[in-house]
Amino acid sequence: MKYLVTSALPYANGKLHVGHLAGAYLPADIFVRYLRLKGEDVIYICGTDEHGTPISVNADAEGVTPEEIVQRYHDLIKEGFDGISIEFDNFSGTARPPHHILSQDFFTNLYEQGHVEPKDTMQFFCEHDRRFLPDRYVEGTCPKCGADGARGDQCDKCGQIYDTNALVEPRCKICGNMPVILLTRHWFLHLEHYRRRLKDWLEQKTGWKESVRSFILNLLDQELVERSITRDLSWGVPVPLPEAEGKVLYVWFDAPIGYISATVEWAERIGEPERWKDYWLDPGTRLVHFIGKDNIIFHAMIWPAMLMGQRLPYCLPYDIPANEFMNLEGQKISTSRNWAICVDEFVRDFDGEYLRYYLAVNAPESKDTDFAWKDFQHKVNGELNNVLGNLINRVLVFAHKHFGGVIRGLIPDAEAGAVLKEATGLYHEIDAAYRQYQVRKNTRQIMDIARLGNKYFDETKPWQSVRHDPEKAMQTLSTCLQLINMIAVALTPILPKSMDKLRAMISLPAVSSWAEGLGDLPVEVRIGEVTTLFNKVEDAAIAVQLAKLQLQSNPETASPETGQAAAYATVPPLKDAISYDDFARMDIRIAYVIAAERVPKTDKLMHLKVDIGSEQRELVAGVAEYYDPLDLIGKKIVMLVNLEPRKIRGILSQGMILCANEENDLALLSPVKDMPPGTVIY
Ligand code: MF3
Ligand code: ZN
Repeated sequence: MKYLVTSALPYANGKLHVGHLAGAYLPADIFVRYLRLKGEDVIYICGTDEHGTPISVNADAEGVTPEEIVQRYHDLIKEGFDGISIEFDNFSGTARPPHHILSQDFFTNLYEQGHVEPKDTMQFFCEHDRRFLPDRYVEGTCPKCGADGARGDQCDKCGQIYDTNALVEPRCKICGNMPVILLTRHWFLHLEHYRRRLKDWLEQKTGWKESVRSFILNLLDQELVERSITRDLSWGVPVPLPEAEGKVLYVWFDAPIGYISATVEWAERIGEPERWKDYWLDPGTRLVHFIGKDNIIFHAMIWPAMLMGQRLPYCLPYDIPANEFMNLEGQKISTSRNWAICVDEFVRDFDGEYLRYYLAVNAPESKDTDFAWKDFQHKVNGELNNVLGNLINRVLVFAHKHFGGVIRGLIPDAEAGAVLKEATGLYHEIDAAYRQYQVRKNTRQIMDIARLGNKYFDETKPWQSVRHDPEKAMQTLSTCLQLINMIAVALTPILPKSMDKLRAMISLPAVSSWAEGLGDLPVEVRIGEVTTLFNKVEDAAIAVQLAKLQLQSNPETASPETGQAAAYATVPPLKDAISYDDFARMDIRIAYVIAAERVPKTDKLMHLKVDIGSEQRELVAGVAEYYDPLDLIGKKIVMLVNLEPRKIRGILSQGMILCANEENDLALLSPVKDMPPGTVIY
């Protein structure tokens, strides 16, 4: 079979976060790696989506060219992919000239056949900036939900769409002035012309996710609105018509064409410029688009229609396994609110393989899932370490300790045979499930093989048998080694680097085919140095991540407990240096609180009676908002005893108790260990 696998082209205006990976990239990379092990002919194509208003809005805001923004993010995104071993055959970008030419060709084909037609429409126009304001260039109040920051035709808050002239109090995003509405000409794609063909095509698809197939079939039974495929912008692919001066193709029109232009670029790069045709012009090609659910309409309705309207017989999508979303700590991921984990930052703190594992075992295949740091820790420690790492470690270390690091292949006895049979059953299930993109289930079943191994090891007790029946102990090792090897192969698509290391430990080359998981191992396997494949994730490391998330998303409310960085940010500047003598003039002592009561008619003041060893004192302290009298009585606290007495609310206050003070909180100080009243503090 010939496969052409793609992942949604990421916009070149932001970094990659874990939600992107979980939805469109990791599942595709795993699928491709699996297909390669099965010996299939497969290429994996992607690139950055480099047009669209956000990119030009950002460029304007930063005072740089859109090209600069695009280059910066293209590189950052590519680095992110490298960091977690997502490997494309080509990673291109839609601002490149061959892509422009191909996109114009797509438009022209549709136009010449009458599938694209012009229409005059109302658009915001800024008289100050003398330009039309498409999409995100205008902001206002949503006419549906009343939220501020709504875009020209859609509100991000409530997700609803509306007519341009419905937006309340529109503002130009460049200058802030109120725009006017003018007539402008745009070109519309008549999806209606494709209704029948799209329906026929989708109806004969089997095995598709219902969230994709039924969803689109359902839309195809409703009125199909014409889609405007041009915009009044300078950044983008120029519309190839003389009367469309100053207009570009809508980013969603040109972006998917990037799948083709990136394949063409790949073919040129490998020195076989015609090779792209083997994939795109062969109706038998299995074109598989991995996307997130927000991209379904474009990939399963508009894009196929665009392909159908071309002169070249492009193949149509074979499958579109759209994934649901991954949330973060129970909330929707949002880069604008800084509620996200960026991949480049993740790999600075943890092994990228842990992220692959966690996103695989928690893949949002059929429902939204949640990235929770504690759960991440739990999975890495409890599964990668305690289940898989443990099996590998105990078997290999045992072989070194008792058999000079050599495991011999033995004919399985009854017990071993049963274990291997069960594992082989799982192995076949995993094989079939990879083809169905069931990464989540597979990850779990691979761990089940490891659990089986641990259980068998425990039950056969090789540490006992090795003393009186070494052959029996060897049987345990031989069987476990086969399980380990099965796991090494089955887990290679998910954890390619770790499994390479594992295979090296058992003196085998990197996995190159799925069949190796069930094949015979060498009669004698020499175990190499046993190194740790996975390390535990410490509580402290998780606390740091949680704090970081709080801090970046809400710098004001992050408290010192949520992280050092937050603490540093709110610390007032240090005072000038003083001499030791200055310090020594203060008489600070341990005091014991004998009595406490609120000062009547105040909120803040507490009247205290304390014992300072040599005498009893009364004082007034501003702690009543944070402590109850009963919290204080019987406590040892810290007190400055030689502060000039002062009358407060009719009470002579003889000293000051020391507290850690913050704007909205306060803590009394007390000795870490019990000390008698009157003890001097210096
Ligand atoms: N850039 C789009 C997004 O991130 C996806 C584009 S997919 C393509 O949502 F097919 F249009 F390229
Ligand atoms: Zn303006």
